Amino acid sequence: MSPTPRLPAATGNLLYAQSGGVTAVINATAAGVIEAARARGVKVYAARNGILGALREQLIDTSKESKASITALRHTPGGAFGSCRYKLKSLEESHAEYARLIEVFRAHDIRWFLYNGGNDSADTALKISQLGKAMGYDIRCVGVPKTVDNDLAVTDCCPGFGSVAKYTAISTLEASLDVASMAETSTKVFILEVMGRHAGWIAAAAGLAGDSADAAPHIILFPEVTFDEAAFLARVKATVERVGWCTVVASEGTRNAAGQFLAEAGTRDAFGHAQLGGVAPVLAALVKERLGYKYHWALPDYLQRSARHAASQVDAEQAYAVGEAAVEYALAGMNAVMPVIVRTSDAPYRWKVEPAALAKIANREKKMPKNFISRDGYAITAAARRYLAPLIHGQAPLPYGNNGLPRYVQLRNVALAPKLAEFPPRH
Ligand code: F6P
Repeated sequence: MSPTPRLPAATGNLLYAQSGGVTAVINATAAGVIEAARARGVKVYAARNGILGALREQLIDTSKESKASITALRHTPGGAFGSCRYKLKSLEESHAEYARLIEVFRAHDIRWFLYNGGNDSADTALKISQLGKAMGYDIRCVGVPKTVDNDLAVTDCCPGFGSVAKYTAISTLEASLDVASMAETSTKVFILEVMGRHAGWIAAAAGLAGDSADAAPHIILFPEVTFDEAAFLARVKATVERVGWCTVVASEGTRNAAGQFLAEAGTRDAFGHAQLGGVAPVLAALVKERLGYKYHWALPDYLQRSARHAASQVDAEQAYAVGEAAVEYALAGMNAVMPVIVRTSDAPYRWKVEPAALAKIANREKKMPKNFISRDGYAITAAARRYLAPLIHGQAPLPYGNNGLPRYVQLRNVALAPKLAEFPPRH
């Protein structure tokens, strides 16, 4: 990576906020932001619960945290300042909210805003980046990438993904050793359900668990491939008859020919996204009813995206690097950009961080390319392996205490005294 350029002395404060689903390494990004800003003498405030904290003027003064606490963020999962799913509408539709943000920025002399999230958050960051012009306040806004779903456009991969990918590949491998042991007299089919609403990156990562003809996972179900019940059941049966057992990894975003999620729970979040979770039991019931096999299924859900104990070293390093770069860009006066990861070589794996326009990232979803999914739709290809394999490399260091548990940090999160009236105003 290129050396940090010398920057002119900056004035004002920097606001950092976490948004959307958190990851095992989003706090490493926070550490990158805070350490880089401290090195330049810039104070970092953090918004409590993402953009909501900025609107409500619930700001945390990170200068009250010790150096050791900030360093410990590098290995602490979850979102240290809280996150949110909250969508700002257009400048015209949500004028009061944008005006409030400017009011809060002005009250606390915030000149740089870093928003750490996925594609919806990139959209929010882009809109805020347009505020300066629209509302006559000089604010630089930089989006910072994060999402276990790995579906951000432009960047080669997303911080958070490498770790969930590693956890998924390890879990697939371990549970498959278990079912293989039991198959003779007990369980024949194991089904693992993983996250990823519209893109099958996490499911694909399970494919790293094995690379020979009969190695697990035997079937991967991607959101990009329409679920065909008859073909799926035939494949499970053939695998059990040939191998003795079968491991299936299913994305929560698996859909039928009518385009419906197999696992839709019927509820939606603030962005209108369906709340998913439950494709594994649906598939398991099908297997039992139609094939009569004993099964087990698992839904790691939040376990997968918080599993810092199985985090990838590459991912943790990239998460930190995008935080550092975001500060560098903002302080250099860049606006409406995001630091993205550029792969310069597969083997040996090499990468660097570069700025990219938020307009090219906001509201776009990067799905698995066709050449990453096998012709039959149930496995990953060699090209996918080349892409995925480096992202799970290395074990990110994690200190353990005498109690046998990881030493995670709990920040003090000292609140700044509010200067403004409550928002939204009480009538
Ligand atoms: O942020 C991505 C993600 O982890 C998805 O893969 C998952 O469907 C979703 O978040 C869950 O969101 P929430 O935590 O808001 O229920």
